[in-house]
Amino acid sequence: MCGIVGYVGGRPALDVVIEGLARLEYRGYDSAGIAVLAEGGLATAKRAGKLVNLRGALEDEPLPAGTLGMGHTRWATHGAPNDRNAHPHVDCTGSVAVIHNGIIENFAALRGELEEAGHKLGSDTDTEAVAHLLEDELKAGGGLAAAMRRVCRRLEGAFTLVAVHTGDPDLVVGARRNSPLVVGVGDGENFLASDVAAFIAHTRDAIELGQDQIVELRPGGVTVTGFDGRPAEVKEYHVDWDVSAAEKDGHDYFMLKEIAEQPRAVADTLLGRIGADGRLTLDEMRISDQELREVDKIIIVACGTSFHAGLIAKYAIEHWAGLPCEVELASEFRYRDAILSPTTLVIAISQSGETMDALMAVRHAREQKAKLLGICNVNGSTLPRECDGVLYTHAGPEIAVASTKAFLTQLVAVYLIALYIAQVRGTKWGDEVFAMVQLLERMPEKVEKVLETMEPVRELARSLAGERCVLFLGRHVGFPVALEGALKLKELAYMHAEGFAAGELKHGPIALIEQGLPVVVIVPPRARDVLHDKIVSNIQEIRARGARTIVIAEEGDRSVEPYADTLIGVPAVPTLLQPLVTTVPLQVFACELATAKGHDVDQPRNLAKSVTVE
Ligand code: G6P
Repeated sequence: MCGIVGYVGGRPALDVVIEGLARLEYRGYDSAGIAVLAEGGLATAKRAGKLVNLRGALEDEPLPAGTLGMGHTRWATHGAPNDRNAHPHVDCTGSVAVIHNGIIENFAALRGELEEAGHKLGSDTDTEAVAHLLEDELKAGGGLAAAMRRVCRRLEGAFTLVAVHTGDPDLVVGARRNSPLVVGVGDGENFLASDVAAFIAHTRDAIELGQDQIVELRPGGVTVTGFDGRPAEVKEYHVDWDVSAAEKDGHDYFMLKEIAEQPRAVADTLLGRIGADGRLTLDEMRISDQELREVDKIIIVACGTSFHAGLIAKYAIEHWAGLPCEVELASEFRYRDAILSPTTLVIAISQSGETMDALMAVRHAREQKAKLLGICNVNGSTLPRECDGVLYTHAGPEIAVASTKAFLTQLVAVYLIALYIAQVRGTKWGDEVFAMVQLLERMPEKVEKVLETMEPVRELARSLAGERCVLFLGRHVGFPVALEGALKLKELAYMHAEGFAAGELKHGPIALIEQGLPVVVIVPPRARDVLHDKIVSNIQEIRARGARTIVIAEEGDRSVEPYADTLIGVPAVPTLLQPLVTTVPLQVFACELATAKGHDVDQPRNLAKSVTVE
């Protein structure tokens, strides 16, 4: 949600910033803008729409060359996504420029105050108020960092701000509360960005910024202080993936690359977590075995695709670890009176580790003294810092807005956690845990096998590009898979798509079935005979009413053949692990169908990868 880049050093800032923005465009693409400090002063350019529009504008009217700059790619909150509301925003004198990610909740009061004092505001954004507040504070002295500190103390809400001022042409100042901001440390140059992807081509040495911190970036060094002006302790880290991980690698879209990477990603999530004796070791958990033995309830909170991983986790946790497990949308969690105690384990699942709804849910759980465990993909993000323990998914950077490889790795992470708790609490024998772990280790090869057989799915998707609606049905862990299949189609193809628990069909949704309506059905393994047979009956019920049935079933499951207009076979795996193989065709299906409709699958309309507002 909004991408931010700042640079100071020896290279042309314009090139570094634009390149950084291109890597952050997944965070928002309603508009893009840039500011450069050059000999002639502060120069800015901004355009509504994707970065390509800004690039075009810069070709027509190049900015003067400078070695200090910042840029922004926007996901609109306050103010329509037009040129006027695009960042950077400048003050009345044109000497201060500001970019922002987040929401300044008290902006209306601040704006009123500024207008009354005679400031002229030219946009509808909350951000612009900061430029004018800085203008006033700079008059009070102390320089840009001190001014930013004083301004931040007046702001409410979540924000990352970056500002430059003509009065100090070697300095970029950043401020962070609740929204992501990382520092890239180079040699004679330094970087600021919402995500390391923006500067990974230049340096892999990074600094994690904490809450309520100000960073001053000069070519020769980085200084971090609190909003109170005191020196702050920072955490340095080395980014363990390189620039090729943030590139398309010959694929037309990041999404295609990320789908293809899933076997490797699943294997990486398992790496280093299985000891020589077959026992699981989750070192970063930081929650002791004794504390895990005391846990009497688990609550999972997450949003979007991560929520679907949570729904599947419930089945695994209850089955293997024998603990009651609730799953809640993070955005809803703190608005009900959930019963939490120090023996409740709250697991927050978030690819980005920055989703504001998930962070607020975690803080709510913390207040009630629950234990907190994060499942997260992005090292250096906020979620792991706010939890007692973390399990990283090691999927590598996920750039496409619609989540694919992160989802599969989240599933592996929740399986590992469920089995680990079972091991610690003794709800499964060691050899039972080991047997399941061995099956998990075979999953990369099964996912690979699914990927090798996707051509018929792509063909099917292209043939359905003219449809208006697709339904998805599943039972047990197939139900969250149905929800995920429908979500992917909504996100990418902008089609009406719904996922239902197949058993609920008869209680309402069956009324939607009409002649030719495509219905995708996820069939449980034959070994689960009751579940399996029930869904075969459901397929017959909808087919009798005219539905066009697209059935995803275990290879060799002949019982579904007579009722499937299209049959998609997936490798046979245990029921609980089946989402790892049944989700993949649905990802491919949505991606291909959306592409056939001419949509940009990496940047679907109205969405952003990391939603840092509530
Ligand atoms: C956004 C994205 C979704 C994602 C959700 C949760 O809405 O568009 O693809 O599933 O956020 O993101 P998280 O980073 O918390 O997993």
